[in-house]
Amino acid sequence: MNKYHEANRKGWDAVSPIWQAGIEQHGVWHRCHREPELVLRPEERRYLGDVAGQEICVLGSGDNLVVFALAGLGARVTSVDISQVQLDTAARRARELDLDVRFLRADVTDLSAIPDASFDGVYTGGHVAVWVSDLRRYYAEAGRILRPGGLFMVNEYHPFRRIWRWGATPLELEASYFVRGPFQTDRSDEVDGAAPGSIPSYEFHWTVSDYVSAMLAAGCRILALEEMGDGLEEWENAPLEGLPLCLLLVGRKE
Ligand SMILES: C[S@@+](CC[C@H](N)C(=O)[O-])C[C@H]1O[C@@H](n2cnc3c(N)ncnc32)[C@H](O)[C@@H]1O
Repeated sequence: MNKYHEANRKGWDAVSPIWQAGIEQHGVWHRCHREPELVLRPEERRYLGDVAGQEICVLGSGDNLVVFALAGLGARVTSVDISQVQLDTAARRARELDLDVRFLRADVTDLSAIPDASFDGVYTGGHVAVWVSDLRRYYAEAGRILRPGGLFMVNEYHPFRRIWRWGATPLELEASYFVRGPFQTDRSDEVDGAAPGSIPSYEFHWTVSDYVSAMLAAGCRILALEEMGDGLEEWENAPLEGLPLCLLLVGRKE
């Protein structure tokens, strides 16, 4: 694991209890296996089709809401995340929901624990690529574990939203769209009692063409690229209304 990912792993382990308390509070995890529309957009459902009986891998599973929704739709889901603390919470919730999910702690750029061509579908997104220093390796691994004809679905926070200075009104550019990083941040303010500077993390800003090129390089034919949503998320601290919220990219492994 490279130094950026190791730092990010430690960061996610550290912030996970507080982050997951927020997930607990909004309560969607109790419901999304029965109401998948709470976490999967109609566009995603359309391209996913009927997943019942399919083997699906979710990469960078985080809150695992998509994992639970896919499992509720009858898929056999493997949930992969770099943070064991995140996975432990998800495993506890899966048991409570009586969902049969497999959990694997791994870096998305090294899925060597998974044999080639193991899955009918790979799903990833919702702020995963931002933590990954090598998008091409990440998507190459996704392509490798897909069977020929398998579906690769990416639904990421739109890159156009990452480039603005937080707190500035009107919008003020923080960094060029073309600067990928690493951007060093400090997550100590997310953890009670943590010393300032004690949780360094590294973010990466990929462009739309980076996502498209990485999916093509992973051996996938692109079926769709859609941009959706233009409202403001409750945690966003810049006037981003009118910019696309999600970048949906759907590929088929050749
Ligand atoms: C914000 S969550 C995104 C996932 C999901 N959409 C969500 O909202 O919970 C980011 C997740 O990616 C995981 N992650 C970060 N870097 C990773 C890596 N290199 N390999 C696997 N998982 C990673 C983190 O541990 C975290 O659980």
